[in-house]
Amino acid sequence: MSVRRGAIWAIGSMLLAWVAMPVSGRAGDAPRDAHAQMRAAMDWLATPWSDAQEKALQAHSPPRDQNAILHLPGSTRTYRRAQLAKTIPDWWPQAHPPMPTIVARGRGKGLPCAECHGPRGTGIAHTATLTGLPAGYIVEQLQAFRDGSRVNDEMHFEASNVSEADVREAAAYFSGLHLTSRRAHVVQTARVPKTHVESWMLVRTRGGGMEAIGDRVIELPLNADHVRLRDDRARFVAYVPPGSLARGRLLATSGAGKVAACVSCHGADLRGTAKIPPLAGRSPTYITRQLVQIALGNRQGLANQPMQQEISRLSLSDMISVASYAASLKP
Ligand code: HEC
Ligand code: HEC
Repeated sequence: MSVRRGAIWAIGSMLLAWVAMPVSGRAGDAPRDAHAQMRAAMDWLATPWSDAQEKALQAHSPPRDQNAILHLPGSTRTYRRAQLAKTIPDWWPQAHPPMPTIVARGRGKGLPCAECHGPRGTGIAHTATLTGLPAGYIVEQLQAFRDGSRVNDEMHFEASNVSEADVREAAAYFSGLHLTSRRAHVVQTARVPKTHVESWMLVRTRGGGMEAIGDRVIELPLNADHVRLRDDRARFVAYVPPGSLARGRLLATSGAGKVAACVSCHGADLRGTAKIPPLAGRSPTYITRQLVQIALGNRQGLANQPMQQEISRLSLSDMISVASYAASLKP
């Protein structure tokens, strides 16, 4: 996405490293082959990619005029292509209050939050939607990333390099914004286009044909170029296995005899509470990834204990179902 991100990847600890982390004994009673299936799923759940790969991709693409003026339909802002290497474009400045310094420009080694989460915190599946999360929850997650009880290399780097004051300011800013639309349009289907990871997202493989969806969520941009230009209104479609929405609804609202109903903590419409994060309208890939990370013991800590008990009884397919249902709800 930008050269600055290189700092994180240069550390050499690739995202893949945490896929291979030993499974914690606390992770529950799911059979080991269920955990193997979940670890394998991290490939499409985490869409690992690096700045080096991004550079190689650009080098193989037709040369682009660095002086070209870029537009987005509906936005009055313009940027020169060359500017995008140094500036995070803010295509919709009227859609948010002024960004705190740490969000827009970063401070010291602390990267700008907007670099990976966008000016309104809408994010992409690879990162997370911060828009409208409880402020206290954001602060707690930064602590968890820093002390390693929540495993993620990018956020570990970030959390180790921002001040408490900046974290509080960023948390207040993102918490005060509202998610105005679902992150992805959810579609149930047995067959999906073949895809591969490119620029931190799944994209359709040209000429790749179709394949069975299996136990996956295939979340695709409608226009990958708009995502690369960091349009935070860019739209996504999420293909999910047939039957996911009905099964997910049952799990979320009644627990389907396996778990406590998700709605009992996350709110009737899964829109969260003053303390518990909302799930409605968020990326189904992100939600599934979190459930898998909790099951594998890569998201621990006191606040997380209620979730660890719930999750140990869910299969990957259950997780996909409940994530798909949550993603289909109005935020
Ligand atoms: C280099 C990219 C990058 C930058 C910069 C970055 N983040 Fe993140 N952030 C991520 C990724 C990737 C995830 C997803 C982690 C996961 O899957 O557990 C994430 C997740 C999060 C989450 C968890 C959200 C949830 O729902 O639990 C919070 C909170 C967060 N980031 C806050 C911030 C803040 C605040 C800043 C700026 C101070 C920031 N991030 C800067 C990449 C980044
Ligand atoms: C007993 C209360 C409780 C129940 C029941 C519960 N959750 Fe949670 N959930 C929480 C809490 C508390 C957190 C915040 C954990 C933390 O701070 O790390 C959370 C976090 C999450 C997250 C991470 C959100 C993010 O932004 O990263 C997901 C995803 C999630 N829950 C999904 C579910 C699903 C799906 C169900 C039903 C199968 C469920 N939860 C049932 C209390 C609950």
